[in-house]
Amino acid sequence: KTVFLINGPNLNLLGKREPEIYGADTLEDVKERCAALATGAGLTLDAMQSNHEGEIIDMIHRARDEAAAIVINPGAFTHTSIAIFDALQAFDGLVFEVHISNVHKREAFRHHSYVSARADGVLAGFGVEGYELALRRVISLLG
Ligand code: DQA
Repeated sequence: KTVFLINGPNLNLLGKREPEIYGADTLEDVKERCAALATGAGLTLDAMQSNHEGEIIDMIHRARDEAAAIVINPGAFTHTSIAIFDALQAFDGLVFEVHISNVHKREAFRHHSYVSARADGVLAGFGVEGYELALRRVISLLG
């Protein structure tokens, strides 16, 4: 089984962007750790990142045929994108939403997520470890 790890806008700058909020690890580090975790559990990880809303929607559509689960950090689209929510509604597998920072401790505009209403679980404020924690949950659910 395949798990899609989808990261949204600005997350390509992980490790360089506001490290006091998002930490020093890069997206490449995250991908490597998640791929090792998935492989060890007999799953395949397909990691992708885009700064473009439509591309993220295309990735979610592709997941309909290719993935049993999606772990997604939609970045700022979390707070704006009904279209990403709709795409996730059209996906039948597991969905876990990850935020590196605790969005609830930050600006009010980060407190609402369009994605959470479709997510099987939400992690915020666990740093980049949140991706691995979400993946561990996927592994236990997919058996
Ligand atoms: C984020 C939180 C969002 O509010 C922000 O726009 C991001 C990253 C996080 O991982 O903490 O780009 O999703």
